[in-house]
Amino acid sequence: MIQLNNISKIYNKGKANAFQALYDVNLTIEDGELVAIIGTSGAGKSTLLHILACIDSYESGEYHIDNVLVKNTSEKTLAKIRNEKIGMVMQDYALIDDFTAIQNVMLPLDFAKKPSRQKKELSLQALEVVGMKQYAHKSVNQLSGGQKQRIAIARAIVNQPSMILADEPTGALDSKTSAEIMDLFHELHLQGRTIVIVTHDTNIAAQCERTIRIEDGRIVS
Ligand SMILES: Nc1ncnc2c1ncn2[C@@H]1O[C@H](COP(=O)(O)OP(=O)(O)O)[C@@H](O)[C@H]1O
Ligand SMILES: [Mg+2]
Repeated sequence: MIQLNNISKIYNKGKANAFQALYDVNLTIEDGELVAIIGTSGAGKSTLLHILACIDSYESGEYHIDNVLVKNTSEKTLAKIRNEKIGMVMQDYALIDDFTAIQNVMLPLDFAKKPSRQKKELSLQALEVVGMKQYAHKSVNQLSGGQKQRIAIARAIVNQPSMILADEPTGALDSKTSAEIMDLFHELHLQGRTIVIVTHDTNIAAQCERTIRIEDGRIVS
């Protein structure tokens, strides 16, 4: 379960260009939920997702993930939480273009103490889940947007995280490909994973169990 209590985020705190991106955000997401975070551009969606993913800090409030407080936590502990619990699908895929699909999917396993044969096997399994096994050895720059998104999702699930966080996963895709990617999230959800999808598309949000709307850094519904 993830729990945010009165989270505030201020970029460039104490400087002339300080900007408060989140105000007193309270939010609970139960295990196994499929949640959409919706709001216009600049509302604070990515900021919120990055805090949930433990890749950004916050100025006040408390964030608990499975009852562990994520605050002033050592980089080592954070890395462990990220590795075990969180799969992140970044905006615009964030793949390494001149790597092959499998090389991209293997990246989160870089630090795992596993034999490389096993890392390859796990990566192939993740590629199979997203229907991309046959493209394992293709260079990413030869793939379409929808295929790249599948690779990004494979990379997010290769560590078997309990929670998948996706930032505008259909933002750059046509409607047919978007529907296919949403089908994939539904499958992962049915397998018991918690899924949080940031979107500004109300059609995508309507396919989720719950929609959290954020405006100017505040949750409004
Ligand atoms: N690194 C940063 N430094 C300063 N301001 C930022 C930074 N990242 C985001 N912001 C600002 O915070 C607000 C929320 O951004 P973001 O969370 O990316 O919005 P969204 O994902 O909803 O479009 C925006 O006004 C944005 O300009
Ligand atoms: Mg964003």
